[in-house]
Amino acid sequence: MSYYTACCIGMALFIGTALPVLSATRDSGEAPGNDAMVIIASTKDIQIKYLVRKDNSLEILEVAARDGNWRAPLGGPLFPGNPWRNGNGPRYCGPVEIVRANGDTALEPLYVSHSSKQEAPGIEHVTIILRDRVHPINVELHLRIYSAENIFEQWMVLKNGTDETLKVPRLDSMYWQASVKDGVFLEWFESQEGNEAGQPKREKLVPGCRLLESRDGNRHKSGPVPAFALGFGDFPDEEKVPCLVAALSWSANTRLYFDINNRSILETSVGVNQTGQPTVEPGQSLASPVCVYSFSAVGKGPASRNFHRWMRKYGMRDGNRLRPVDNNSWEGCGMDVTEASVLEMMKLSAGLGIELYVLDDGWFGKNRNLGDWWVNPARFPHGLSKLISDGKDLKIDFGIWFEPEMINEGSELFASHPEWVMRMPGRELARQRNQLTLDVANPAVQEFMFKAVDDILKGNPGIRFVKWDCNSNINNPYSPYLGPDRQGDMLNQYMAGYYGVMERLVTRFPQVDFQACAAGGGRADLGALRFGHTYWPSDNTHPGYRLGAQWNFSTFLAPMAATCHVTHAGGEFKPKYRFDVSMMGQLGMEVDPRKSDPEYLEAAKVGIAAYKSVRDIVQLGDQYRHQNPFDSKTPSLNYVSSNQDRALLLAYQTDDLKQPVNLNSPVSGLDPARRYRVAEINLPPGDEAPRLVKNAKLIQSGSEWMKQGVPLIFSRKNDSAAVTLIAQPYEQE
Ligand code: DGJ
Repeated sequence: MSYYTACCIGMALFIGTALPVLSATRDSGEAPGNDAMVIIASTKDIQIKYLVRKDNSLEILEVAARDGNWRAPLGGPLFPGNPWRNGNGPRYCGPVEIVRANGDTALEPLYVSHSSKQEAPGIEHVTIILRDRVHPINVELHLRIYSAENIFEQWMVLKNGTDETLKVPRLDSMYWQASVKDGVFLEWFESQEGNEAGQPKREKLVPGCRLLESRDGNRHKSGPVPAFALGFGDFPDEEKVPCLVAALSWSANTRLYFDINNRSILETSVGVNQTGQPTVEPGQSLASPVCVYSFSAVGKGPASRNFHRWMRKYGMRDGNRLRPVDNNSWEGCGMDVTEASVLEMMKLSAGLGIELYVLDDGWFGKNRNLGDWWVNPARFPHGLSKLISDGKDLKIDFGIWFEPEMINEGSELFASHPEWVMRMPGRELARQRNQLTLDVANPAVQEFMFKAVDDILKGNPGIRFVKWDCNSNINNPYSPYLGPDRQGDMLNQYMAGYYGVMERLVTRFPQVDFQACAAGGGRADLGALRFGHTYWPSDNTHPGYRLGAQWNFSTFLAPMAATCHVTHAGGEFKPKYRFDVSMMGQLGMEVDPRKSDPEYLEAAKVGIAAYKSVRDIVQLGDQYRHQNPFDSKTPSLNYVSSNQDRALLLAYQTDDLKQPVNLNSPVSGLDPARRYRVAEINLPPGDEAPRLVKNAKLIQSGSEWMKQGVPLIFSRKNDSAAVTLIAQPYEQE
């Protein structure tokens, strides 16, 4: 990364007017003066140039590939608020809104200084400090730049240097302007299960404002998940269209704002969708969540791989360690769990090759009332100890489910602390799933949540996994703890409480894996995954849907973090297909093996063994998505180990077939010069007809495989193939 500064290292670039300027985004017209300064933030391949104009306003001058082969249409002021200085020009929103005690909303951040710090090899933290033209209110733009991964983290900090309380209704994480001359195309995602194939939403941005908001409070079950891709010139594809992929490290209300004005300038601002006006006291500061982004000159594929590599190294816990194959009790038997039944299921699961058994909902309290986080003695007479010790004998680890942010009114907790529940003054409580949300902004509640999990983990040191669920929105959005004057801080304080408890738990129990779940994919995001190993993408486990949902989430989340369970859903599909769909990420099951027919269990054994033989490629390798499952009836993707020794191709066929179809399924990312042998895996008894075309070449160079693809034959609707490509030492050919 290079980084030039006049003040620090005397390498400021002084710019004359001959330098390239994105005229489409400059309506005030003033060219950079002789004393303008450029600050360059760059990764290995991408460079962002910031311009400090001589009036001390800050702009994006250019975003481009460092090799000079591509330039994004981004550019223009970063803090363009205060329309009164803009004559007849556009009325921009900018990234920050404040309200001073006298009602004044003006804010004109001007450049003061910048600095850069090497935080670790390959990681640089750049801070640009701006101050309001009139008042001592600072806005800091922070960039953490991961050079090798081509990832930027960006966030803003607002510092209140005045002697009065400030309200800050909006402090976005990422803001920029762009020219839309060639069209800008948005792709965004939901975690709604209703959507049959998990299609993303795709739209060409048109003049006017496109505002996407999630409003659930503590998760994102309705509205967008906090991530999106933008294609420059066309819809974002995998290999050609220049694009940006961005994701917020945030698990709650999100606001994605895109506005094209009458000068064809797109204003984009991404941040928290606040439910009120957070306060910043004199001398205090407020930070936005981090927005993580990457640009690619050639499709989403490279940008996603940047995200995956970055996540494995920096964005989640233990990204260098393989995730186990698990079986979870929920889809198979719901809350009908007892020590005897779980032991039986663990035994049968171990026989299938399962490595971790997860006891989901239903194990706690007298009557399974949320809040009573002690093990029900009637159902589990030995607590959890017998499950853990018998698990050890079976060589199967044990994990458990919690939902600490929630409470049932029948609980002992509710009887002793009714004031810990969020409720709107003078109104009837709104319930979801018959439960209420705790006032997580309250430190006493945070302490309770921590202790509830801590007690169980401390008392049962053999527990290796915790699934943290959150099945209700913030339905009664009022924090009794914060009281009348501070309701604007509710969302920030709630989320700080949740993240704070997670932080304490993962620090105290480094040996325990955590899974982020919120009634399905409501916490499939970078915020929750900072503390986790996996996320649960959806409660819809039908393979038709899962193929799409897992595909979408892999745009910005590492495949190893996606828990892909084979359940009893989708029974109309052959087990092979269901296992091949779950091979896209962290494969596991969610079945009651006591109720599964023998043919299915045999197929499960084969599927699990096949997955284990390639899981390091899927979890630690690079993912190449090809035709997507929304536009193509033969979607496919492949994974390549980081040393390019081994690859796995997963190909699916979803069309009604009158007769078998032949196709060459694409592969990417191989070493062109090495020779690879193909072999098929996951052919369970009764379904073992090869999908690899008979008599086709088995060995050829990476370059030939990448040119020709792998020849496959599919003979039914929802057929699939899992094919390995293994690099050959010469003597074995
Ligand atoms: C919702 C989750 O998504 C499911 O996997 C399961 O844990 C249930 N909650 C349990 O109530």
